[in-house]
Amino acid sequence: MRVLVITGSGVSAESGIPTFRGPGGYWRNLDPVSLATPEAFARNPRLVWDWYNERRQRIRAAQPNPAHAALVRLAENAAEFLLVTQNVDDLHARAGLIPSQIVQIHGDIFLTRCSECDYTEETDSLTAAGTETSRDIPCCQHCGAFMRPGVVWFGEQLDPAKVERVEDYLARGRLDLTLVIGTTALFGYIVDWAMRPTAQLIEINPEESPMSAMAGQTVRQPAGIVLPGMVDSLLAQRSAPVL
Ligand code: OAD
Repeated sequence: MRVLVITGSGVSAESGIPTFRGPGGYWRNLDPVSLATPEAFARNPRLVWDWYNERRQRIRAAQPNPAHAALVRLAENAAEFLLVTQNVDDLHARAGLIPSQIVQIHGDIFLTRCSECDYTEETDSLTAAGTETSRDIPCCQHCGAFMRPGVVWFGEQLDPAKVERVEDYLARGRLDLTLVIGTTALFGYIVDWAMRPTAQLIEINPEESPMSAMAGQTVRQPAGIVLPGMVDSLLAQRSAPVL
């Protein structure tokens, strides 16, 4: 069975990480959607770094929840599996998905990259990094420009190599199952991928989203509650020895 899973911040909500647009998303009374922009960084890089450093700390302190674990079980039992996440946290990986099973389409909060050249540094996701206690904005050791979080901001291009990985996977054959979990699905490319030919399109989201009208099945419950049982039934239903 060929499986595509698309996740958004709702899948990490039960791990205590606020969604972008839900309750707790605001930080110091600022809308995260207005902080995650190149313009916000140009105007006030310190403020944007403070926000990302707090988010890094919150993610380090968080643990994968039953939804992350259920997706690992699905991946282990599917013949082909790809998870495209809009999340910049590392909870899918910490739950046990391997890099070839994940595309972090909006980047990785634990990468720090130069705002001008290609220089990139990895921050250990489980330990505090020096830049996070310093009040100075980190600078590139090659060109001296400000370093920035390795995430995609509003108005920026996606990494073409990541888009290619998703397109290559989708081009290899028709999907048997598409799961869309915990996202308001506001980006055209997310809806486009979710709408690729599939035998079953299931949305898991306590609220209605633009995906709801297109999904064959919508499950209005938190992912951590519903996904473990849903994966059990999907695995039990499989007709072939390998899903
Ligand atoms: P949003 O905050 O827009 O949406 C979170 C979704 O998760 C909502 O539809 C909630 O109803 C749903 N949700 C909340 N709790 C849930 C739970 N326990 N189980 C399942 N679903 C739950 O976040 P995203 O859709 O991830 O992009 O946002 C997409 C992108 O927009 C982000 O990656 C970010 C953002 O602005 C960039 O920064 C480029």
